Amino acid sequence: MSVSAPLSSRDFWTRPRAERAAHFAELRAIAPVSLHEPSAFTLAPQRRGFWAVTRHADVQHVSRNPALFCSGQGVGLGDLPPDILELNASFLVMDPPQHTVIRRIVSGAFTPRRVARFEADITTEARRIVDEFVDRGGDVVEDLAMKLPLWAISTMMGVPESMRAEFYRAAEGQIAAQDPEYARAGKDSATFALEAAMTLHRLAAELVADRRAHPGDDILSTLVTAQIDGEPLDEQLLRSIFVLFATAGNDTTRTSTSQGVRLFAENPDQWRRLRADPTLLPSAIEEVVRYATPVIHFRRTATQDTELAGAQIAAGDPVVMFYESANFDETVFDAPETFDITRDPNPHLGFGGGGTHFCLGASLARSQLRALFTRLAERAETIEAGQAAYLTSNFVNGIKRMPVTITAS
Ligand code: HEM
Repeated sequence: MSVSAPLSSRDFWTRPRAERAAHFAELRAIAPVSLHEPSAFTLAPQRRGFWAVTRHADVQHVSRNPALFCSGQGVGLGDLPPDILELNASFLVMDPPQHTVIRRIVSGAFTPRRVARFEADITTEARRIVDEFVDRGGDVVEDLAMKLPLWAISTMMGVPESMRAEFYRAAEGQIAAQDPEYARAGKDSATFALEAAMTLHRLAAELVADRRAHPGDDILSTLVTAQIDGEPLDEQLLRSIFVLFATAGNDTTRTSTSQGVRLFAENPDQWRRLRADPTLLPSAIEEVVRYATPVIHFRRTATQDTELAGAQIAAGDPVVMFYESANFDETVFDAPETFDITRDPNPHLGFGGGGTHFCLGASLARSQLRALFTRLAERAETIEAGQAAYLTSNFVNGIKRMPVTITAS
């Protein structure tokens, strides 16, 4: 039976997460794995409906069984138009053993040890960004949240200063294309997303050519010099990996920061608590990621008939893991709607369900968020936020704008 539920509609995703929570709570209670009609809110018409997986344990089950729930047929709730799909064909949409080989090559750049070596620079940059924000105030995204992730991922990939504005806008365009505000000048969302992907490929092509001639110490150099069975990586794959890092590296950490500032502005007691006891910072960061759930979902496709929480899933069915729901599962989190920076344990699935595709940038993201909120706690006695403009998207919980006023300590 197909549930004619709001998850397939556009309207549902124009509302902020807090307003979607009641629907997910109902699904967890009465239909934890439910079949939905094809979504009306995708870049290309969906061929078939999808299963929504809403409980924490079931999301982990799907994530940790790649042989049963594969990534190779797409990872978004909706189908992508073929041209966009081709430009995004990175290891995110691969399965073992191919995924394992590529991920091993790339992951050298993201080990906690390597990120730790980068940490001093992250701290210096975060202090500069936060100090400027505290002194001048402004918009949480443009003047604070977008800056550190852009600097970090550009530095790690060797994107020069002169390219960064275009790099950032294109990365943002890929993620934000569903929101009508971004698809400007009469272009539909799919055209806008395609143009953004093409821009990133053009930048990648320039940088790859440069690194082939002058290899350095950055991730792209690692990729252009890597070999699989004596062969270099395919050029199209190199560029798609660049696109993946551009989007994954910018958007999610930016969203965690802007949502974190909003959460602390709305919960001044939690801000006072963090300022009084900075040892709470690591658990505060985990709570920000849980509560914000920057990535709403990822999808898998069933490779064979299977049963999950009483639902009969057929081979070929899209199966969508709603992290946004799993992170508020009342059987795992006490008072899930309470933003509690002391929450411990906090086994949130904000970085994924623990399977082979678990977020490669988790250490990098945590390190940036620690540096930013440490400095903000040192400098900001109070945080006041105006109305947040939320991104319309069924993929990320973004904030587009939110004015912030800080009282410096
Ligand atoms: C708070 C910030 C972040 C959040 C919430 C986040 C979330 C996620 C999620 C949910 C996944 C999918 C996991 C799965 O399917 O099991 C993922 C994968 C990934 N993330 Fe992140 N991410 C963040 C930051 C970053 C950063 C800074 C990077 C750095 C470039 C990054 C790179 C990646 C990559 C490359 C993958 C794909 C891994 C694979 O397919 O093997 N992420 N992330």
